[in-house]
Amino acid sequence: MSKNIDWSNLGFGYIETEQRYVSNYKDGAWDDGTMSTDATVTISECACVLQYAQTCFEGLKAYTTEDGRVVCFRPDLNAQRMVDTCKRLEMPVFPVERFVDAVVQTVKANIDYVPPYGSGATLYIRPYMFGSNAVIGVSPAEEYQFRIFVTPVGPYFKGGAKPITIRVSDFDRAAPRGSGHIKAGLNYAMSLHAIVDAHNQGYAENMYLDPATRTKVEETGGANFIFITKDNKLVTPKSDSILPSITRRSLMVVAKEYLGMEVEHREVLLSEVKDFAECGLCGTAAVISPVGKIVDHGNEICFPSGMEEMGPVTKKLYDTLTGIQMGRIEAPEGWIKEIK
Ligand code: PLP
Ligand code: COI
Repeated sequence: MSKNIDWSNLGFGYIETEQRYVSNYKDGAWDDGTMSTDATVTISECACVLQYAQTCFEGLKAYTTEDGRVVCFRPDLNAQRMVDTCKRLEMPVFPVERFVDAVVQTVKANIDYVPPYGSGATLYIRPYMFGSNAVIGVSPAEEYQFRIFVTPVGPYFKGGAKPITIRVSDFDRAAPRGSGHIKAGLNYAMSLHAIVDAHNQGYAENMYLDPATRTKVEETGGANFIFITKDNKLVTPKSDSILPSITRRSLMVVAKEYLGMEVEHREVLLSEVKDFAECGLCGTAAVISPVGKIVDHGNEICFPSGMEEMGPVTKKLYDTLTGIQMGRIEAPEGWIKEIK
């Protein structure tokens, strides 16, 4: 029986559900993993995650489809990205097939928390891993925990699909060279001050620029950028120091194969942003959130699509992507993992 939750009014918050997946790594191997009802974690005061932030995470969603199935979207890509992250953080790899199986187990165990079709809510799935044993010299842990919890969520940005205003950030995330493309706790810790400051100034997010030249668009704290040119091309920033968004990679396919659009994956200069017709933030949590305005130190870039609704091309991308995710539109081979 579906839980008695006001699905349509959910924000992006944490609601504790009944079951979570837990697997422990010790003496060079992962155990079999199990479901647990314990939502707390008990670790050493000197755990590597607490002292040296040896932690990483992933994010994906489960959806109820139009015909009542429960599915998730490209979990193998999250699994692979976590493998890449773990290698960069000297953490043990959690095998791709086991990751996908653990996602399926966790969603099944919390099936009553999967929001109904058409409610506007989805089940956010958060796999994560951390170094758990005591480490005092700077070195990786020897013991790890891999866990997955789920939580039903609504829109990431307040106001739902209304365009947001963001600002060009003066802060850089302190992602050391070559670590920006991984989903590591420390990369997010270093964006916390920037996001609090942005919110205090009335902006929904930060546009980060490349720290070396501060001329190129990177991403925001939790999403990649997409831009639409006045002649309907999709342009999206290419950079080694942004997260390789699964939503963005999927949208590039959707634009080309489903909508017949030209797609440019390339460096994007801040100076050319004023010439685009539409702008959006894309990610698992953000889906596609339209950006109406970008403020660059008093200079306002206002997109012609305005502050009332999503631009027309962004809307087509949004409808096609969410149509695929919710079973209204046939998905490319391998994109949909059936759970129930
Ligand atoms: N960029 C950052 C910094 C993110 O945290 C996320 C969210 O995961 C994304 C981009 C979007 O990635 P994805 O589409 O894989 O969710
Ligand atoms: C996601 O979209 O899954 C993210 O990780 C974004 C944010 C919640 C960190």
